[in-house]
Amino acid sequence: MRNRILELLRASGSEAVSGEEISRQLDISRTAVWKHIQTLKNEGYEIDSLPKRGYVLREIPNRLYPQEILAHLQTKWLGHAICYEDLVDSSNNLGKKLANEGCPDGLIVVAEEQGAGKGRLSRGWISPHAKGIWFSIILKPSFLPEEASKCTLMAAVAVVKAVNKIKGVKAAIKWPNDILLNGKKLVGILTEMNAEFGHINHIVIGIGINTNATPDDYPEEVKHLAVSIADAATEPFTRVELLCDILKNMEELYEVACKEGFVPVFEEWRKYSCTLGQEVKVIAPDVTYFGTAVDIDEQGLLVVRKTDGTMDKVVAGDVSIRPAAAKNGAYS
Ligand code: BTN
Repeated sequence: MRNRILELLRASGSEAVSGEEISRQLDISRTAVWKHIQTLKNEGYEIDSLPKRGYVLREIPNRLYPQEILAHLQTKWLGHAICYEDLVDSSNNLGKKLANEGCPDGLIVVAEEQGAGKGRLSRGWISPHAKGIWFSIILKPSFLPEEASKCTLMAAVAVVKAVNKIKGVKAAIKWPNDILLNGKKLVGILTEMNAEFGHINHIVIGIGINTNATPDDYPEEVKHLAVSIADAATEPFTRVELLCDILKNMEELYEVACKEGFVPVFEEWRKYSCTLGQEVKVIAPDVTYFGTAVDIDEQGLLVVRKTDGTMDKVVAGDVSIRPAAAKNGAYS
C-alpha cells in the first residue's frame, strides 16, 4: 500500500495530493493514509503535509529501497525480485542461501552495508553504509558450468557501460573483472557457482561499486588503491538509477550470451579493456612472469606474449598493468 501512495505522490510532482484523494483512490481510511505517510517519513522520504491541500513528496532518501529500484527499472525480468537488507555479512552469501532455497531466476540481493564483504582470492571487500552499491545477481542459466566464469566478464561490461554514462567518469576493465578509474579500483566482481556435472544450479554474481566512499572509509594500507564515482563525476548521479542501468545492460548481454554465446559479449569487453596491448606482470598461483597482454581467447582467458616470445593463457591469478610512465615502477 505504501508503494501505491508513493506512486500517487510521485505522479503529482510538486502538486499536493489530498489525504481524501489518496484514501478514495486506494480505498483505505484517512487514518491509514496518515499512518503510511508517517512510515514513509521514518524511512527517510521528505513529505510535506500542507494544511487543507495534502501531501507533497519533496525528497527521496539515498537508499536502494526495492520500491525505488522498481520505479526506475526497465528490465523485462532481471531484478524484478529484490531482497533488500540494510546490513548483511555478504550479499553473495545471502544470495547463495536464497538460491539454495529456490529463489526466482534474476533475483537481486541489495545491501546498504556489508559487514564481511568478500573479494577474490579470499580477500575482503570494504562496503561502508550507503556509500556504494553492494549487490548480487542470481542467475540460473542453461549453459554449461564451463561457461560460468564468462559471466564475470559480462558483468564487467554491463557495469563499465553504465558508469561511463555519468559525465566525467571514464572507467576501464582490467582483466578479468576489475573496473579501474584513474588507475584505481572502482568496482570488484566476484562470481560464485553451484553446479553438478554438466548442469549449473545457480550462479551468484556479486558486484561492489564504490560510489561515495572516501579515503576515511578504508584502512591506511588500501586507501591509495580505491576510488569512487563521486571523485570523478561532474554531474549528480543516484545509486538507484545507476543500479537500474547496470541491470538493463546485464539483461541485454545475458540474453545475447544465452542465444548466441559469449563472442559478442567479449567484443564489447575488448572495447572497454585497459589491459589489452599493455605490458603486464602475471602473478599466477605457481609462477610470476612479465609480458604483453595480447587478447582474450574464446574462453575469456587472457592471452599474454611473454618477454621470451612464447605465448601463455592466464587461467587464474592476478594481472598488474605496467604503467607506461614508470616502466620499472609500480604496477596497478
Ligand atoms: C574483488 O575485486 O576482489 C571482488 C569484490 C566483490 C565485492 C562484491 S560486493 C557485493 C558482493 N558481495 C560480496 O561479499 N562480494 C561481492
